[in-house]
Amino acid sequence: MSRPAEPVPALRAQALTKTHRGEGAAAHAVRGVDLTVRRGEFVAVTGPSGAGKSTLLHLLGGLQRPDSGSIWLDGECTDSYGEARWAVERRRSIGIVFQFFNLVSNLTVADNIELPALLAGASSKRARTARRELLGELGLEGRARSMPGELSGGEQQRVALARALVNHPRLLLADEPTGSLDSKGTREVMRLLSRFHARGQTILLVTHDARLASTADRVISFFDGRITDDADLGDPPARSTGLSGVLELKD
Ligand SMILES: Nc1ncnc2c1ncn2[C@@H]1O[C@H](COP(=O)(O)OP(=O)(O)O)[C@@H](O)[C@H]1O
Ligand SMILES: [Mg+2]
Repeated sequence: MSRPAEPVPALRAQALTKTHRGEGAAAHAVRGVDLTVRRGEFVAVTGPSGAGKSTLLHLLGGLQRPDSGSIWLDGECTDSYGEARWAVERRRSIGIVFQFFNLVSNLTVADNIELPALLAGASSKRARTARRELLGELGLEGRARSMPGELSGGEQQRVALARALVNHPRLLLADEPTGSLDSKGTREVMRLLSRFHARGQTILLVTHDARLASTADRVISFFDGRITDDADLGDPPARSTGLSGVLELKD
Protein backbone atom coordinates (compact mmCIF):
# COMPACT_ATOMS: atom_id res chain seq x y z
CA MET A 1 0.00 0.00 0.00
CA SER A 2 1.44 3.37 -0.93
CA ARG A 3 0.81 6.28 1.33
CA PRO A 4 -1.54 8.97 0.04
CA ALA A 5 0.33 11.65 -1.92
CA GLU A 6 1.14 14.87 -0.08
CA PRO A 7 -1.22 17.61 -1.25
CA VAL A 8 0.36 20.15 -3.57
CA PRO A 9 1.54 23.13 -1.50
CA ALA A 10 0.11 26.58 -2.22
CA LEU A 11 3.63 27.92 -2.53
CA ARG A 12 7.08 26.46 -2.72
CA ALA A 13 10.36 28.30 -3.03
CA GLN A 14 13.71 26.64 -3.43
CA ALA A 15 17.18 28.17 -3.08
CA LEU A 16 15.94 31.71 -3.72
CA THR A 17 18.54 34.43 -3.82
CA LYS A 18 18.31 38.13 -4.57
CA THR A 19 20.99 40.80 -4.40
CA HIS A 20 20.10 44.46 -4.86
CA ARG A 21 22.82 46.28 -6.74
CA GLY A 22 22.18 49.97 -6.48
CA GLU A 23 24.44 52.97 -6.10
CA GLY A 24 26.30 51.82 -3.00
CA ALA A 25 27.37 48.38 -1.81
CA ALA A 26 25.38 45.38 -3.04
CA ALA A 27 22.66 44.31 -0.58
CA HIS A 28 22.38 40.52 -0.32
CA ALA A 29 18.72 40.68 0.67
CA VAL A 30 17.76 37.01 0.18
CA ARG A 31 20.53 34.39 0.48
CA GLY A 32 19.16 30.96 -0.22
CA VAL A 33 15.61 30.50 1.00
CA ASP A 34 13.69 27.22 0.91
CA LEU A 35 10.07 27.61 1.93
CA THR A 36 6.88 25.61 1.58
CA VAL A 37 3.47 27.03 2.47
CA ARG A 38 0.66 24.50 2.63
CA ARG A 39 -2.83 25.33 1.46
CA GLY A 40 -4.81 26.99 4.20
CA GLU A 41 -1.74 27.79 6.28
CA PHE A 42 -1.20 31.19 7.96
CA VAL A 43 2.54 31.81 8.01
CA ALA A 44 4.26 34.86 9.46
CA VAL A 45 7.76 35.88 8.45
CA THR A 46 9.29 38.07 11.11
CA GLY A 47 12.66 39.70 11.62
CA PRO A 48 14.29 43.09 12.01
CA SER A 49 14.18 45.90 9.50
CA GLY A 50 16.58 45.22 6.66
CA ALA A 51 16.46 41.43 7.10
CA GLY A 52 15.12 40.97 3.57
CA LYS A 53 11.47 40.22 4.38
CA SER A 54 10.00 42.60 1.81
CA THR A 55 12.40 41.39 -0.85
CA LEU A 56 11.29 37.82 -0.17
CA LEU A 57 7.63 38.81 -0.43
CA HIS A 58 8.32 40.69 -3.67
CA LEU A 59 9.96 37.58 -5.11
CA LEU A 60 7.04 35.37 -4.04
CA GLY A 61 4.56 37.74 -5.68
CA GLY A 62 6.59 38.13 -8.86
CA LEU A 63 7.16 41.84 -8.24
CA GLN A 64 10.91 41.18 -8.44
CA ARG A 65 12.75 38.31 -10.09
CA PRO A 66 15.21 36.17 -8.12
CA ASP A 67 18.86 35.96 -9.18
CA SER A 68 18.59 32.20 -8.71
CA GLY A 69 16.18 29.67 -7.32
CA SER A 70 12.64 28.70 -8.23
CA ILE A 71 9.07 29.35 -7.11
CA TRP A 72 6.10 27.03 -7.60
CA LEU A 73 2.53 28.28 -7.26
CA ASP A 74 0.10 25.44 -6.61
CA GLY A 75 2.68 23.04 -7.98
CA GLU A 76 3.34 25.01 -11.14
CA CYS A 77 6.89 26.21 -11.71
CA THR A 78 7.07 29.95 -12.41
CA ASP A 79 10.63 29.95 -13.77
CA SER A 80 9.46 30.81 -17.26
CA TYR A 81 6.96 33.48 -16.19
CA GLY A 82 7.47 36.97 -17.61
CA GLU A 83 5.97 40.22 -16.35
CA ALA A 84 2.64 39.67 -18.08
CA ARG A 85 2.16 36.18 -16.70
CA TRP A 86 3.01 37.33 -13.16
CA ALA A 87 0.52 40.18 -13.57
CA VAL A 88 -2.15 37.63 -14.45
CA GLU A 89 -1.26 35.59 -11.35
CA ARG A 90 -1.49 38.70 -9.17
CA ARG A 91 -4.89 39.45 -10.65
CA ARG A 92 -6.27 35.93 -10.26
CA SER A 93 -4.42 33.96 -7.67
CA ILE A 94 -2.19 36.15 -5.51
CA GLY A 95 -3.63 39.04 -3.50
CA ILE A 96 -1.13 41.51 -2.05
CA VAL A 97 -1.50 44.16 0.64
CA PHE A 98 1.23 46.59 1.61
CA GLN A 99 1.95 48.93 4.50
CA PHE A 100 0.65 51.89 2.53
CA PHE A 101 -2.73 51.04 1.23
CA ASN A 102 -2.08 51.55 -2.50
CA LEU A 103 -5.68 52.49 -3.26
CA VAL A 104 -6.52 54.52 -6.35
CA SER A 105 -7.16 57.87 -4.72
CA ASN A 106 -9.55 59.25 -7.32
CA LEU A 107 -11.80 56.18 -7.39
CA THR A 108 -14.53 55.46 -4.84
CA VAL A 109 -14.15 52.62 -2.37
CA ALA A 110 -16.62 50.60 -4.45
CA ASP A 111 -14.68 51.15 -7.68
CA ASN A 112 -11.35 50.36 -5.99
CA ILE A 113 -12.72 46.94 -5.03
CA GLU A 114 -14.61 46.23 -8.24
CA LEU A 115 -11.73 47.18 -10.54
CA PRO A 116 -9.62 44.02 -10.03
CA ALA A 117 -12.75 41.87 -10.44
CA LEU A 118 -13.58 43.61 -13.73
CA LEU A 119 -9.96 43.30 -14.89
CA ALA A 120 -10.14 39.57 -14.17
CA GLY A 121 -13.19 39.32 -16.43
CA ALA A 122 -16.12 39.42 -14.00
CA SER A 123 -19.35 40.98 -15.24
CA SER A 124 -20.21 44.32 -13.65
CA LYS A 125 -23.05 42.64 -11.82
CA ARG A 126 -20.77 39.98 -10.36
CA ALA A 127 -18.15 42.55 -9.43
CA ARG A 128 -20.80 44.61 -7.65
CA THR A 129 -22.14 41.61 -5.75
CA ALA A 130 -18.64 40.55 -4.68
CA ARG A 131 -17.85 44.11 -3.58
CA ARG A 132 -21.06 44.35 -1.54
CA GLU A 133 -20.37 41.05 0.20
CA LEU A 134 -16.81 42.01 1.06
CA LEU A 135 -17.68 45.49 2.31
CA GLY A 136 -20.34 43.94 4.53
CA GLU A 137 -17.88 41.42 5.86
CA LEU A 138 -15.31 44.13 6.54
CA GLY A 139 -17.81 46.36 8.32
CA LEU A 140 -17.66 49.06 5.65
CA GLU A 141 -21.18 48.89 4.15
CA GLY A 142 -21.72 52.60 4.46
CA ARG A 143 -18.42 53.50 2.80
CA ALA A 144 -18.98 52.35 -0.79
CA ARG A 145 -19.33 55.88 -2.17
CA SER A 146 -16.52 57.39 -0.08
CA MET A 147 -13.18 58.34 -1.55
CA PRO A 148 -10.14 56.65 0.05
CA GLY A 149 -8.88 59.97 1.47
CA GLU A 150 -12.06 60.30 3.53
CA LEU A 151 -11.36 57.07 5.42
CA SER A 152 -9.19 56.35 8.45
CA GLY A 153 -6.02 54.34 7.95
CA GLY A 154 -7.65 51.22 9.35
CA GLU A 155 -10.62 51.62 7.01
CA GLN A 156 -8.34 52.17 4.02
CA GLN A 157 -6.41 49.02 4.85
CA ARG A 158 -9.67 47.09 5.09
CA VAL A 159 -10.57 48.37 1.61
CA ALA A 160 -7.12 47.29 0.41
CA LEU A 161 -7.80 43.86 1.89
CA ALA A 162 -11.15 43.72 0.08
CA ARG A 163 -9.43 44.63 -3.15
CA ALA A 164 -6.78 41.97 -2.62
CA LEU A 165 -9.40 39.30 -1.88
CA VAL A 166 -12.13 40.13 -4.39
CA ASN A 167 -10.93 37.55 -6.91
CA HIS A 168 -10.59 34.84 -4.24
CA PRO A 169 -6.82 34.48 -4.61
CA ARG A 170 -5.32 31.19 -3.50
CA LEU A 171 -2.61 33.11 -1.66
CA LEU A 172 -2.66 36.40 0.24
CA LEU A 173 0.69 38.13 0.71
CA ALA A 174 0.73 40.93 3.30
CA ASP A 175 3.80 43.12 3.85
CA GLU A 176 3.61 45.00 7.17
CA PRO A 177 -0.14 45.53 6.64
CA THR A 178 -0.48 47.23 10.01
CA GLY A 179 2.75 49.21 9.74
CA SER A 180 1.07 52.57 9.39
CA LEU A 181 -1.98 51.90 11.60
CA ASP A 182 -2.79 52.80 15.19
CA SER A 183 -3.62 50.04 17.66
CA LYS A 184 -7.33 50.06 16.77
CA GLY A 185 -6.59 49.74 13.05
CA THR A 186 -3.98 47.08 13.78
CA ARG A 187 -6.45 45.07 15.79
CA GLU A 188 -9.10 45.31 13.08
CA VAL A 189 -6.77 44.20 10.33
CA MET A 190 -5.30 41.32 12.36
CA ARG A 191 -8.78 40.16 13.32
CA LEU A 192 -9.78 40.14 9.66
CA LEU A 193 -6.68 38.20 8.64
CA SER A 194 -7.51 35.62 11.32
CA ARG A 195 -11.10 35.43 10.16
CA PHE A 196 -10.19 34.92 6.50
CA HIS A 197 -7.64 32.34 7.57
CA ALA A 198 -10.27 30.52 9.61
CA ARG A 199 -12.25 30.24 6.38
CA GLY A 200 -9.38 28.64 4.55
CA GLN A 201 -7.45 31.58 3.11
CA THR A 202 -3.73 30.84 2.75
CA ILE A 203 -1.79 33.82 4.12
CA LEU A 204 1.85 34.82 4.23
CA LEU A 205 2.29 37.81 6.53
CA VAL A 206 5.55 39.73 6.76
CA THR A 207 6.02 41.79 9.91
CA HIS A 208 8.86 43.06 12.08
CA ASP A 209 6.45 42.80 15.05
CA ALA A 210 6.91 39.43 16.76
CA ARG A 211 3.67 39.84 18.66
CA LEU A 212 1.64 40.21 15.46
CA ALA A 213 3.53 37.27 14.00
CA SER A 214 2.26 35.10 16.84
CA THR A 215 -1.25 35.42 15.37
CA ALA A 216 -0.14 32.97 12.67
CA ASP A 217 0.00 29.15 12.79
CA ARG A 218 3.64 29.17 11.97
CA VAL A 219 6.32 31.78 12.55
CA ILE A 220 9.43 31.94 10.40
CA SER A 221 12.28 34.04 11.74
CA PHE A 222 14.22 35.83 9.07
CA PHE A 223 17.62 37.39 9.60
CA ASP A 224 20.19 38.63 7.17
CA GLY A 225 18.49 37.07 4.16
CA ARG A 226 18.05 33.63 5.69
CA ILE A 227 15.48 31.63 7.61
CA THR A 228 16.90 31.16 11.10
CA ASP A 229 13.92 29.46 12.71
CA ASP A 230 10.63 27.92 11.60
CA ALA A 231 8.21 27.27 14.44
CA ASP A 232 4.83 25.66 14.23
CA LEU A 233 2.55 27.26 16.80
CA GLY A 234 0.03 24.53 16.13
CA ASP A 235 -0.45 23.57 19.75
CA PRO A 236 -3.58 25.23 21.06
CA PRO A 237 -2.23 27.04 24.17
CA ALA A 238 0.58 28.82 22.33
CA ARG A 239 -1.71 29.71 19.47
CA SER A 240 -4.56 31.08 21.51
CA THR A 241 -2.21 33.10 23.70
CA GLY A 242 -0.71 34.76 20.68
CA LEU A 243 -4.05 35.40 19.09
CA SER A 244 -5.81 36.77 22.13
CA GLY A 245 -2.77 38.91 22.89
CA VAL A 246 -3.24 40.68 19.60
CA LEU A 247 -7.00 40.77 19.51
CA GLU A 248 -7.17 42.23 22.97
CA LEU A 249 -4.62 44.89 22.21
CA LYS A 250 -5.89 48.03 23.90
CA ASP A 251 -6.07 51.47 22.31
N1 LIG B 1 15.34 48.25 -4.39
C1 LIG B 1 16.41 48.13 -3.61
N2 LIG B 1 17.62 48.62 -4.01
C2 LIG B 1 18.71 48.48 -3.23
N3 LIG B 1 18.71 47.89 -2.02
C3 LIG B 1 17.54 47.43 -1.56
C4 LIG B 1 16.33 47.52 -2.33
N4 LIG B 1 15.32 46.94 -1.62
C5 LIG B 1 15.88 46.51 -0.47
N5 LIG B 1 17.21 46.80 -0.43
C6 LIG B 1 18.14 46.42 0.65
O1 LIG B 1 18.01 45.02 0.85
C7 LIG B 1 18.04 44.71 2.23
C8 LIG B 1 16.74 44.04 2.63
O2 LIG B 1 15.68 44.99 2.51
P1 LIG B 1 14.16 44.60 2.69
O3 LIG B 1 13.87 43.40 1.86
O4 LIG B 1 13.34 45.81 2.45
O5 LIG B 1 14.13 44.17 4.23
P2 LIG B 1 12.94 44.24 5.32
O6 LIG B 1 11.64 44.23 4.59
O7 LIG B 1 13.17 43.03 6.16
O8 LIG B 1 13.15 45.51 6.07
C9 LIG B 1 18.31 46.03 2.94
O9 LIG B 1 19.69 46.14 3.12
C10 LIG B 1 17.81 47.07 1.96
O10 LIG B 1 18.49 48.29 2.13
MG1 LIG C 1 10.01 45.47 4.68
